[in-house]
Amino acid sequence: MNMFQKPKIAVIGAGMIGGNLAYMAAKKGLGDIVLFDIVEGLPQGKALDILETTPIEKINSNLIGTNNYEDIKDADVIIITAGIPRKPGMSRDDLLSTNAKIMAQVAENVKRYAPNSYVIVISNPLDAMVYLFYKISGFHKNRVMGMAGILDASRFRAFIALETGISVESISAFVLGGHGDSMVPLPRYSYVGGVPLPHFPGMTSEKIESIVERTRKGGGEIVALLKTGSAFYAPAASAMAMTESIIRDQKKVFPAAVYCEGEYGYNDLFIGLPAVFGGNGMEKIIEIELEPNEKEALDKSAAAVESLKENLKTLNFIT
Ligand code: APR
Repeated sequence: MNMFQKPKIAVIGAGMIGGNLAYMAAKKGLGDIVLFDIVEGLPQGKALDILETTPIEKINSNLIGTNNYEDIKDADVIIITAGIPRKPGMSRDDLLSTNAKIMAQVAENVKRYAPNSYVIVISNPLDAMVYLFYKISGFHKNRVMGMAGILDASRFRAFIALETGISVESISAFVLGGHGDSMVPLPRYSYVGGVPLPHFPGMTSEKIESIVERTRKGGGEIVALLKTGSAFYAPAASAMAMTESIIRDQKKVFPAAVYCEGEYGYNDLFIGLPAVFGGNGMEKIIEIELEPNEKEALDKSAAAVESLKENLKTLNFIT
């Protein structure tokens, strides 16, 4: 990017999340947007539709849709949503072999055409998909991250707001671990108006347990309602917040799937941990004190992610 060029954002997969991502990025004026998909006409149609909102919305972004990977050349940020979503009754892990094939193809092309990009993976099963991208691309760990924790934390915040009647803006929440049923919402590090959740008036341990459970199953709740696919507005908004923090060097802290080299005792593993996101991508993992039961839950979640990694080896996607 030269001094006067807008950032270039490429969205791979122009489905439900991809289309919303492109629209949100345009509305935020984050840069020029390239929407890629293998389905002919789909990214072109969505990009043109969004472009036609720009006069009304006063947006100065260019948008193109494409089926040609060359068009993502030199993108600054790449967001990967390619893959199939789950249907009722499926877990995210059931998507592994189908989406791994797709991710392998995407990673080869991103490596070829946008070797200096920052990459945010959304495709599920998230922790395994971001690991696979990392391995195939060979990108530095600061350039590769998975969107999950920010979404899980946003769901946690929304449910706390519904329970307390307090504005979501006065609520913060913390979720660690893999993006699956073993994720670890941490009430002790979640706050309502600056008060730790367990100390908030009227907040019983039963209420906290039910909010935590709803958070863990938040994705499944939407899948059961939609029946034809999975959540897309909140996942797109979550990835957009990460993208904005990188492009505008905001240095916000979000939980996200990040590559561990010893942090929290994990090695060669992507798992949801709090990290700083800024102009250098995933800039730093923040290590916090965990109580024994919290660490045990995180270890259980890490073991679940580790077993998906083993499946990727068995299926010959990685060695
Ligand atoms: N290359 C690029 N795009 C692909 C490829 C590929 N090889 N294979 C499929 N796609 C595209 C599809 O054509 C589709 O347009 O990926 C898009 C996925 O969009 P949706 O089916 O609408 O799924 P979405 O809800 O956006 O979810 C995408 O994110 O949250 C995860 O579990 C979810 O893995 C899923 C992904």
